[in-house]
Amino acid sequence: MTNSPDLSRITILVPGPLNAHAAKRIDKTFEMIRMDSADPAGITPELAGKVRGIAAFSGINAAFMRALPKLEIVASFGVGYDSVDAAHAGKSDIMVTNTPDVLTEEVADTALGLLINTVREFPRAETYLREGRWAKEGPYRLTPGTLRGRKAGILGMGRIGQAIARRLEAFGLSVAYHNRRPVAGLAYDYHPTPVALAGAVDTLISVLPGGASTAKAVNAEVLAALGPTGVFVNIGRGSTVDEDALAAALRDGTIFAAGLDVFADEPNVPQALIDVPNASLLPHVGSASVHTRNAMADLVVDNLESWFGRGEPVTAVPETAHVKAKG
Ligand code: 8YV
Repeated sequence: MTNSPDLSRITILVPGPLNAHAAKRIDKTFEMIRMDSADPAGITPELAGKVRGIAAFSGINAAFMRALPKLEIVASFGVGYDSVDAAHAGKSDIMVTNTPDVLTEEVADTALGLLINTVREFPRAETYLREGRWAKEGPYRLTPGTLRGRKAGILGMGRIGQAIARRLEAFGLSVAYHNRRPVAGLAYDYHPTPVALAGAVDTLISVLPGGASTAKAVNAEVLAALGPTGVFVNIGRGSTVDEDALAAALRDGTIFAAGLDVFADEPNVPQALIDVPNASLLPHVGSASVHTRNAMADLVVDNLESWFGRGEPVTAVPETAHVKAKG
C-alpha cells in the first residue's frame, strides 16, 4: 500500500457494548456505527453496503459475517476468541485479531489471587469481619487449607500459563503442566493428559481456551484424580469444565475447593456452585483493570488502523493468518 487511505471514510460496526476507550478511538479515526447486538436481522442494506470492519467485545458468528459482504476484519476484544467463528472467517477471507500479551500479567495475578482466596478463605474471612462476628465470636477459624507444600499443575501452558507458573515458583510451589504438546525450553514436568496431570498434583489451574476441542475437558474423572485435598482454579473458559460434575465434587468432598473466574453461561452462574461454601467465585474479572482493559482496547484499535492503513494486522489469530488485505 503506497497512499495512506482516508480512514474516516471506512465504516466500523460495533455490535453490543465495547470498552469506552476503544469506542472513543474508533469514533475519532473511522466512521463508527453502533448496534445493540450482533444480530444479522439488524443489518440494513446500507450497513451491508459499507461495513468493512467490526470491533467486538462479544461473539461474532458466521451468519453475522455473511450479512456483511464488504467485511474485511473482526477485531475481537480479548485474548480468547472462541466466541468468534474464526474458522469461517479464515475460509471467507476475513481477518480476525485478538488481544494477546497485554493482559498476560493481569490474568496471572488474578489466578494467584483466586488461588489464595480459595485456599485461605479470605473472602469468607472478610465477610466474617464485616458481619461483626470477629468482635462477637472471636477470631476467624484456622483454615484447613494452605498453599504450603502444594503441587501445582497448569492446564494450558501458553503465555498466561507460563506467567502463572513463574508466580507459583516464587510462592514455593512445584509446577507441572499439560498442553496439547510439550512447550520447548520449559523445564516443568509435562503430562500427556489432563487426568494424568490431575493425578500428579493437588492444585490444578486451568487456562484452557474455549471451543469444541476443550469442551468439558475438566470432568468427573479429572476431579476424582485431583483428589480430596485438591483445589481447582479456572481463569480460562467455563465451557472447559463439566460444571455439574464440579459442583458435585465440591459437595461430596471429591475435591477440597475451587476458585472460578469463568463460567459456561456467563453471567449466569449455576446455583449449585453458589450454594457450595468451598467455591470462591469471581465475575470474570481476570483482565478487568482500567490499565489492562485500556491496553486491550488500544490493541483492538491498533489492529483496525494497521489493517486499513498498512494492509496488515498487529495480532492475527492463527486461523486467519493467511488472509491478505484487499489493498
Ligand atoms: C475478557 C478474557 O474480559 O481476554 C479474554 O479472553 O477472557 C477477558 O480478558 C473477555 O474476553 C472480554 O470479552
